[in-house]
Amino acid sequence: MSDSSAVSQPLHIPTVPLATGAAIPQLGFGTYKVTEHVVEIVSSALRLGYRHIDGAQMYHNEAEVGEAIAQSGIPREELFLTSKLDNPNHEPAVARETFAQTLRDLRTDHVDLFLIHWPLPTLYGGDFVTTWKVLEEFLDDGRARAIGVSNFEPHHIQEILDGADVVPAVNQVESHPYLPNNAVHEFDAAHGIVTEAWSPLARGRAASDPALARTGQTHGVSASQVALRWAIQRGDVIFPKSVTPERQAENLRLFDFALSPDEVALVDGLSEGEAGRTGGHPDTRGM
Ligand SMILES: NC(=O)c1ccc[n+]([C@@H]2O[C@H](COP(=O)([O-])OP(=O)(O)OC[C@H]3O[C@@H](n4cnc5c(N)ncnc54)[C@H](OP(=O)(O)O)[C@@H]3O)[C@@H](O)[C@H]2O)c1
Repeated sequence: MSDSSAVSQPLHIPTVPLATGAAIPQLGFGTYKVTEHVVEIVSSALRLGYRHIDGAQMYHNEAEVGEAIAQSGIPREELFLTSKLDNPNHEPAVARETFAQTLRDLRTDHVDLFLIHWPLPTLYGGDFVTTWKVLEEFLDDGRARAIGVSNFEPHHIQEILDGADVVPAVNQVESHPYLPNNAVHEFDAAHGIVTEAWSPLARGRAASDPALARTGQTHGVSASQVALRWAIQRGDVIFPKSVTPERQAENLRLFDFALSPDEVALVDGLSEGEAGRTGGHPDTRGM
């Protein structure tokens, strides 16, 4: 009889190299809006084989994520943990204080990746470069093994390239079939920055898309799996979120089928440009 509480062996999930030399699992588990039963939900993901957890101070669940990790008994070196600096925390002293709290909450002495969550160009005098330099301190002292940005448009990243020392290792942006965000992908790639695609299911919309479902039938997979596989074939790092173990398991099964060039073109054709965006625009989003 199988023991449902047993920790699975790590699955063979491909990794993507970061400019630091580290390898990030291309598929992880997202924790945004995991607000109830957090320990059970994250424990389920870890049991199923997820080893990369995308978190953030803004999600207000890092202590519970830390509890699930501690209970799992999985060695720290097998996990890839990301956190992000929350919008109210950009002032250097606050960034330092809240980063230390994140490490305490996650019960670890380092995160594998720490990001500025939003550039907030309309706040803090638009000075995210000073905030970036505080993240450089965390990289220098080893408490962040890599640092990066989230929701940065190319012109925001250019300011960092011009005003700071370290090139962001990743840029985590909204990206899915309805908003492929091609210009950001091209800029990131040209600068050795890995693109992470947030809301790869467009917050669940992709699951009921008839065109994705038809494509999935050919491969015996769901519409969601087609959207996720499309992101994987683009080279993006993704971390779909689900509170249900069945969907968590479904979202892991992306590596035993591949989309043909015609099928990739079909998914490309679902783009709605800016109209497909579900979140705020980085140029205007405040707190
Ligand atoms: N940097 C940023 O600003 C930012 C912004 C947003 C998200 N993120 C990150 O990206 C992660 C993923 O994005 P997201 O959570 O916004 O959206 P998502 O992963 O695109 O979609 C999640 C939604 O899809 C549903 N779902 C998941 N798998 C499914 C499946 N196989 N079939 C049908 N429905 C399914 C989930 O429902 P159930 O949970 O009920 O199953 C949930 O409603 C976040 O958790 C977070 O880590 C970052």
